Amino acid sequence: MKIFLDTAVIDEIKKGLETGLIDGVTTNPTLVSQAKVDFKAAIAQIASLANAPAEWAVSAEVTALDCAGMINEGIELAAIAPSVVIKVPLTVEGLKACKALSGKKIKTNATLVFSPNQAILAAKAGATYVSPFVGRLDDVGQNGMQLISDIKAIYDNYGYSTKIIVASIRSPQHVVQSGLAGAHVVTIPPKIFSQMFSHPLTDIGVKKFMEDWAAFKK
Ligand code: E4P
Repeated sequence: MKIFLDTAVIDEIKKGLETGLIDGVTTNPTLVSQAKVDFKAAIAQIASLANAPAEWAVSAEVTALDCAGMINEGIELAAIAPSVVIKVPLTVEGLKACKALSGKKIKTNATLVFSPNQAILAAKAGATYVSPFVGRLDDVGQNGMQLISDIKAIYDNYGYSTKIIVASIRSPQHVVQSGLAGAHVVTIPPKIFSQMFSHPLTDIGVKKFMEDWAAFKK
């Protein structure tokens, strides 16, 4: 399973990269505005971070609403670095742009996906990634993780190469469920990445081992 960090805060990404466990980054207009960074400069900086793995993937979202505008933005953003993936919303215009960008060998991420039908269309448009938002579905009383299982089953039925990024993750449990459903990628807030390391029995175990070791060495 690949782990992406869902943030535009450079220091958080650098810290994640230090673990050697982060495969990519996803951003969106909200995250960029919260990080208060210059969008293109931040994407360039994230794309060129020192410890990034060879297959580093950095999603940058278009803000135009029409196909032509999205294609222009996508071409401009993709020129920043080979690791840049163009995020387009799952709208008619977005998928037209997705198909055009895919035809130019530009990597794409169809975002704001909330149904299996939308995911089918993203795959047919040649999206490199599809981003179903599980937390936002849970927020409105639907079952976000069921969507992931449904998309995985459909993609497997037809051998679609589009990779599933589980997005809008709210807890470490969503990560576990993503793994059980066979999702290719989870994109998680840095706080949840930290929580994935934690277990009280690990802390107790380390403390006891250190105490026993110290007593033995005396
Ligand atoms: C994914 O690419 C999105 O940036 C993100 O996961 C959205 O999450 P949210 O629902 O917490 O805003």
